[in-house]
Amino acid sequence: MFSQVNEAKLDEIITHYPVKRSAVLPALYIAQEEHGYVTDEDVRYIAERLDMRVNEVEEVVTFYTMYSRQPIGKYKLQVCRTLSCMLLGAEQITGHIEQKLGIGVGETTADGRFTLQEVECLGYCDLAPCLQVNFDYHEKVTTAGVDDIINKLS
Ligand code: FES
Repeated sequence: MFSQVNEAKLDEIITHYPVKRSAVLPALYIAQEEHGYVTDEDVRYIAERLDMRVNEVEEVVTFYTMYSRQPIGKYKLQVCRTLSCMLLGAEQITGHIEQKLGIGVGETTADGRFTLQEVECLGYCDLAPCLQVNFDYHEKVTTAGVDDIINKLS
């Protein structure tokens, strides 16, 4: 169950598609916006609203890295670990973030501000290495650039 505003948003989004289940991605965004991550209850509720089985919604939410099934930090730092980025320094970027924030991949800082993840190709291979911070993309990132990005968020 969502807030009244988000219920209205979901109702409206469902009208955009010929079959309800096609609204699963935006429905999951709404859930994540409402609760900070996609809860078990969200998965069951979305399945019910979109005439899907719970495991079908679960498959979608666990396939895409933009959704989280557990509480995450305010800022989700996602470092691409696919070939171009790996060849051009993604490991150093990840290591630098780990050291700077004192967390490992998959962890969240104690203050709840940052979560670090490694993800597959972000689609900016020609501008590797790439870092996604929530919905913002940063290309050709360097360790100094990462410091700058994080400091601006702090
Ligand atoms: Fe990193 Fe494609 S390999 S963006």
